[in-house]
Amino acid sequence: MTDNLVKLLLAEDNSGKEALSESEDTQNRLGQHEKIATLGQLSLGFIRQIAKPLNVITIGMEFLGNVLPKIDEKLKEPVRRINQAVNKANNLVDDFLQFSRTSEFELESVDICQLLDEAIDLFGHRALANSIEIHRNWCEELIEVKANKNILQQVFINFFTNAFDAMPKGGDIRINVYNKKLEEVGNRVGYRATDHFKTGDRAIVVEFEDTGQGIPKDILPMIFQPYFSTKETEKRAGLGLSMVHLIVERHQGTIEVESAANKGTRFTINLHPAGNEIG
Ligand SMILES: Nc1ncnc2c1ncn2[C@@H]1O[C@H](COP(=O)(O)OP(=O)(O)O)[C@@H](O)[C@H]1O
Ligand SMILES: [Mg+2]
Repeated sequence: MTDNLVKLLLAEDNSGKEALSESEDTQNRLGQHEKIATLGQLSLGFIRQIAKPLNVITIGMEFLGNVLPKIDEKLKEPVRRINQAVNKANNLVDDFLQFSRTSEFELESVDICQLLDEAIDLFGHRALANSIEIHRNWCEELIEVKANKNILQQVFINFFTNAFDAMPKGGDIRINVYNKKLEEVGNRVGYRATDHFKTGDRAIVVEFEDTGQGIPKDILPMIFQPYFSTKETEKRAGLGLSMVHLIVERHQGTIEVESAANKGTRFTINLHPAGNEIG
């Protein structure tokens, strides 16, 4: 992934030597990500209100779906289409409610490699069926991060889901885990009071790479926005990566993405080792 590399640092760019327009662009992006949290809270009450009548419609359509086509065969197709729309609405509501639950969490020491092993197990069969090989690259020693296990797992589930979508003809997924002392610029290290890491801090790095279609340069700044999706399938709501971003933020971690067309994509997250004081 060296040629034509497109890189988006969601974390603050500390180089300070970039052209002004580029740094303004970074600020805009950061502003957008802060808006996500506010928007989420505002929308939660609204979605809960929508969920109630939607439930009535769902139950009503289950009943009418059985009755109406028996009365008139021509009603079969409209009933099918209404059911499809109701399902889509239910999926969106479910995704949103799951997304909002990420705000209720407690931190503990989590064996990150075991967590990744569990995620790999979940996707093992699908990988085999889709000619996707999963490579785990970490050492035997215990690596513990400060995290909420179930919520952090959502990050990897989303990475897997997206990687599978990006490799319809098969490919490789490589997961690297290592412990790193943060010294270089970038990565939100040590420059502001709000930075999640300080220079010299240790971070647990998880790299998640695929050899899929990659993300075009013009789309890269949008992938973490809620409801942004390039996929047409009924199932995908475009909430996956905004949820990932929110979860990493809640863990006071950082996330970066690098992608090259037709070569692949790599997400890198920095998490706090179990001993770090956060939260
Ligand atoms: N591993 C990946 N490879 C290629 N494109 C990706 C990858 N991960 C995310 N994307 C792009 O980012 C968009 C947003 O991802 P996401 O928030 O998970 O929404 P969804 O998967 O529902 O479309 C995707 O529609 C896709 O265009
Ligand atoms: Mg997704």
